[in-house]
Amino acid sequence: MKRSPSLPGWVRVVGLFLCWTRTVQALVLINSTQLESMLNQYRDKDDKWWKARSRGRRAISEGDMHLILDLHNKLRGQVHPPASNMEHMVWDYDLERSAEHWAHTCRWEHGPSHMLTQIGQNLGAHWGRDRPPTFHVQAWYDEVRYYSYPYSQECNPHCPFRCSGPVCTHYTQLVWATSNRIGCAINVCYNMNVWGMIWAKAVYLVCNYSPPGNWWGHAPYKYGSPCSACPDSYAGGCRNNLCYKEGGVEQRPAPEIEESNYIEPEQEPVRDREPPPRAQTPNPSANDNPDRTPVVSTEQMSQQVDCETKLRDRCKGTTCNRYECPPGCLDRPAKVVGTAYYDMQSSVCGAGLHSGVIDNDGGWLDVTRLGRKQQFTKSYKNGIQSIGKNRSANSFKVDSVPVKAVTCDTTVALFCPFKKPVRHCPRLYCPRNCLHSSQVRVIGTKNYSDKSSICRAAIHAGVILNESGGYLDVMPVDRRQQYTGSHQNGISSESLMNPTGGKAFRVFAVI
Ligand SMILES: *[C@@H]1O[C@H](CO)[C@@H](O)[C@H](O)[C@H]1NC(C)=O
Ligand SMILES: *[C@@H]1O[C@H](CO)[C@@H](O)[C@H](O)[C@H]1NC(C)=O
Ligand SMILES: *[C@@H]1O[C@H](CO)[C@@H](O)[C@H](O)[C@H]1NC(C)=O
Ligand SMILES: *[C@@H]1O[C@H](CO)[C@@H](O)[C@H](O)[C@H]1NC(C)=O
Repeated sequence: MKRSPSLPGWVRVVGLFLCWTRTVQALVLINSTQLESMLNQYRDKDDKWWKARSRGRRAISEGDMHLILDLHNKLRGQVHPPASNMEHMVWDYDLERSAEHWAHTCRWEHGPSHMLTQIGQNLGAHWGRDRPPTFHVQAWYDEVRYYSYPYSQECNPHCPFRCSGPVCTHYTQLVWATSNRIGCAINVCYNMNVWGMIWAKAVYLVCNYSPPGNWWGHAPYKYGSPCSACPDSYAGGCRNNLCYKEGGVEQRPAPEIEESNYIEPEQEPVRDREPPPRAQTPNPSANDNPDRTPVVSTEQMSQQVDCETKLRDRCKGTTCNRYECPPGCLDRPAKVVGTAYYDMQSSVCGAGLHSGVIDNDGGWLDVTRLGRKQQFTKSYKNGIQSIGKNRSANSFKVDSVPVKAVTCDTTVALFCPFKKPVRHCPRLYCPRNCLHSSQVRVIGTKNYSDKSSICRAAIHAGVILNESGGYLDVMPVDRRQQYTGSHQNGISSESLMNPTGGKAFRVFAVI
């Protein structure tokens, strides 16, 4: 029980159902002035960390920010039954900052606890297949199928909370009429503990809302014709069924009513290991200018495997030659057969540790298949005992993933053209500004001719940004019969039919 003894009489004690444990905790509701000073303390405490972060990148891209915000407003404008007082949401950088702090902890629970009475919070996490953040926002909204809206005649004196499914509070927070500000952050968490399961690499989304919703005994919004009950501060403004004011409205303190602020257990986060989706064009609104809708591809070439995954169990071919191992494989030794070259039954990450290519922090490695070998020798290396075998079996070796910086003009034809047997192309680092500093052509879409500039093709494919450059993986592939041109991300690529020579390649994100 946390309770500040010095707080004045208007303080409300609210019950908070904390996450899945459903432990009841009593917390104290404070006023907005106190919240501000609390937030300031919080900011100061981690200011160094924050400054270090903000020198780099924000924990959310402009693109993701707009996707999340636009989807919230779209869903809020379309609730059923219709809302008379639903307010337009705006992005709030302080909320983003608090979400970033929390996302940085990688804890699969709501927090920090001292802020939970002052903000609403929705969480999402996934691993494996890449998903846009809007996937989680939509999943929160989709709880609507379990939720029955409480009409005013049922709200006497309190509205019933009618949720026929496991959780509805993500939905009710999302459509809480007065929650007009949002700030979210995304963090990649290693070894995240999600209900006792350790996720090697999880993508964690934290969205904070203010003023908080989910007040016990209240409906999320008022029923009625859109914008007919907007607060005065909107001065009658209405847009897309939402109370709207250019520049947003003044921040209002949280309502001081004696109620409980509920936070229910998180839903089962999405866990799957399907192959990554193809590059997609996020399409928040059909009438967007196509030039302004960036194509983003987060498809990766390297496959994320577990410490135990045997090479034998993975697919064959070029896509299956680069792997990302989680940290901690030294503590969970898996079977490794051989030395220098390994039996296909060996764990990929175990072989990587044994040969010294990765350490207990995990990381990337390249696999080369070596065909049949008659004998595998045992040895103890780098903390891993491998076993010997005198029977013939298919084999492989592991190497570290080399990284090479290239220029905007570098082509695959010059650098690592497709050859059989398949070989690795190093991981590449592209400089910034390849949009302007190079005129080398880009031929194709998704599949590119190997006469194309690699870095410019990567910008075209949405794998890196012109502004920052960055890492990418290249997969040389055999030639294509045709390459289709398109205009994406500021680059017009060319079409090419029945090329006489030359091979092709694909580019992948490194995340
Ligand atoms: C908030 O609480 C502080 C400290 O108790 C008090 O001095 C201040 O007047 C309160 N502000 C409002 C807006 O109620
Ligand atoms: C493999 O054969 C060699 C020599 O033929 C022998 O010394 C070794 O013990 C055998 N190893 C195993 C694991 O059977
Ligand atoms: C890329 O090449 C593959 C294999 O030939 C083909 O299936 C795919 O449709 C091509 N994609 C595009 C966008 O041309
Ligand atoms: C490309 O990146 C450079 C360097 O960051 C920047 O100066 C330039 O404005 C960018 N061009 C476009 C069209 O975004």
